Amino acid sequence: MCGIVGYAGENSALSVILESLKTLEYRGYDSAGISVLGSGIETYKSVGRIANLEAIIPNEISGNIGIGHTRWASHGRPNTVNSHPHNSGSPCKISVVHNGIIENYMALKDQLIAEGYEFKSETDTEVIAHLLHKHIYERPDGNVAKCDLLTGLRKTLKELEGSYALGVLCADEQGKLALARKNSPLVIGLGKGENFAASDVTAFLNYTRDVIFVNNFETAILTPTSVEIFDGEGKVREKKIERIEWDFEAAEKAGYEHFMLKEIHEQVSAIHNTLAGKVSELEGTISLDELNMSDEEIRKLSRVQILACGTSWHAGMLGKYLFEQLAGIHCDIDICSEYRYRSPVMNNGTFAIAITQSGETADTLAAVREIMSYNCPTLAITNVVGSTITREANSVLYTRAGPEIGVAATKTFSSQLTLLYLLAVKFALARGKLSPNHVKEFIMDLRKVPGQIQQILDQKETVKEYAEIFAQAKSYFFLGRNLNFPIALEGALKLKEISYLHAEGFAAGELKHGPIALLEKDTPVVIIATKGQTYERVLSNIKEVKARDATVIAIANSDDTEIGKYADFILTIPESNELLSPLLSVVVLQLLAYYTALARGCSIDKPRNLAKSVTVE
Ligand code: M6R
Repeated sequence: MCGIVGYAGENSALSVILESLKTLEYRGYDSAGISVLGSGIETYKSVGRIANLEAIIPNEISGNIGIGHTRWASHGRPNTVNSHPHNSGSPCKISVVHNGIIENYMALKDQLIAEGYEFKSETDTEVIAHLLHKHIYERPDGNVAKCDLLTGLRKTLKELEGSYALGVLCADEQGKLALARKNSPLVIGLGKGENFAASDVTAFLNYTRDVIFVNNFETAILTPTSVEIFDGEGKVREKKIERIEWDFEAAEKAGYEHFMLKEIHEQVSAIHNTLAGKVSELEGTISLDELNMSDEEIRKLSRVQILACGTSWHAGMLGKYLFEQLAGIHCDIDICSEYRYRSPVMNNGTFAIAITQSGETADTLAAVREIMSYNCPTLAITNVVGSTITREANSVLYTRAGPEIGVAATKTFSSQLTLLYLLAVKFALARGKLSPNHVKEFIMDLRKVPGQIQQILDQKETVKEYAEIFAQAKSYFFLGRNLNFPIALEGALKLKEISYLHAEGFAAGELKHGPIALLEKDTPVVIIATKGQTYERVLSNIKEVKARDATVIAIANSDDTEIGKYADFILTIPESNELLSPLLSVVVLQLLAYYTALARGCSIDKPRNLAKSVTVE
């Protein structure tokens, strides 16, 4: 997730863009940049926050049209060269800011290099700048425009696969800013003698509250006095002007009351982004080039060792089930703070996976250093490009969930799970445990998950209602079997973290071995009872709980006609592939924790005693 802004007006573009970018820093701040269109295009970029950028821009830079970007790196390290805007032409003819991911950028890059374009950065975005240049100027050294900016933009968009919100300047189209959108947010602000564009309205709320939301496949041309919007066919579109009544803080959260709720909703796009460019349902293949491992090397492995803490440890636990059940490879999972002190025995053929949202957790880094001291190849799964772990591990897979502001991990957890599914299936393919046909079906089911999460989000009022009923409970219990055991642990952790209620997660079959003594009349017990190989056993566990007069809240599939006979309350998830249902159940548990904390008046985004990144051992 990055933030883009654009300005076309009577005032100096520089000051408006810098001010607007500062409000978008929550979308990422590893580097920033700006281009201003005056007599030509001038571009300035810098690593770090907007203040660093401000410090390097000369005061005399002039121009009334401009674009800016604050970056959350997804392709290429956070450095000045990889920062946006990306330009093409010498002297610069095209300048582009981009939020999104271009999935086919490697193929486009090869083609553009063959045509004579020189690439400076490691980013996917640079292909857009050169493609635009190619369509408008025809040749890398061409300086005379052969078509206008809008025509060139439309030709370029036809070649792009993936997601984008784009702001484009062209040196030969004075007074104009071009925009385009597909699956990344983009909104236009309407002022008097000036117009604005941004990833969200916070960027220009100080200037105007009249906005037009740009839809997928629409393009637009902004000048200081006009806004023209076109559909995918290039026909002018009449758009509704909306008035924003939110205050600044609410707007930053896109209208959600808390970042956590926003991030729960963002799981729909986060999973989509995690998958982008990595799966092909046509061929039944998983591409994880970053793994740097051939099928032959995967076959030689005898064991996987996963290392993580907290929520990432729950993701790793599910990973263990997946590697063993799908790929038939032995897998261990360890809590990092324990791993170093238990004198682990290292087997030949061990492959290590460290999972950490922040990439900075001290316990995880220490465990990684320990396992790497045995020369064990180590993969990091993280959300933060350039974080410490990415410099230490042998290879890195990024979750690409965008910055997570709420201390309680939500969208990064489901993106971690998504990568673990892909890794386990890749290992299963390489080891001959799954055929390409099975993989095709699995990918098709995985592609349905974002839509299924949306269905759950559409029913969040029911979760809220139940959360309010039990908000004053003394203790809460969460039970699950098999793949749902880690999800039960995660449900309990989420509730503890943000609502300060005592909550425990257990393997449902373990209840009778001790924890059942804790059950009292009306204790809420959340039981994940989705269809699958342990369903009947889970029904027995529900009966055990009911026999102690506790209250059962079941998470069940929407087509389950049996569960109503046993559970007191039911929260449903759509029917799905059994293996993938944890990705759905966890969303219900995140919502339950959120609404419980809301009902208890807790500080949801910044819970007491917790930090987003734990950098001490
Ligand atoms: O950044 P990491 O994934 O390494 O963080 C690990 C834990 O500190 C983290 O998951 C923590 O448990 C979260 N607050 C969970 O919501």
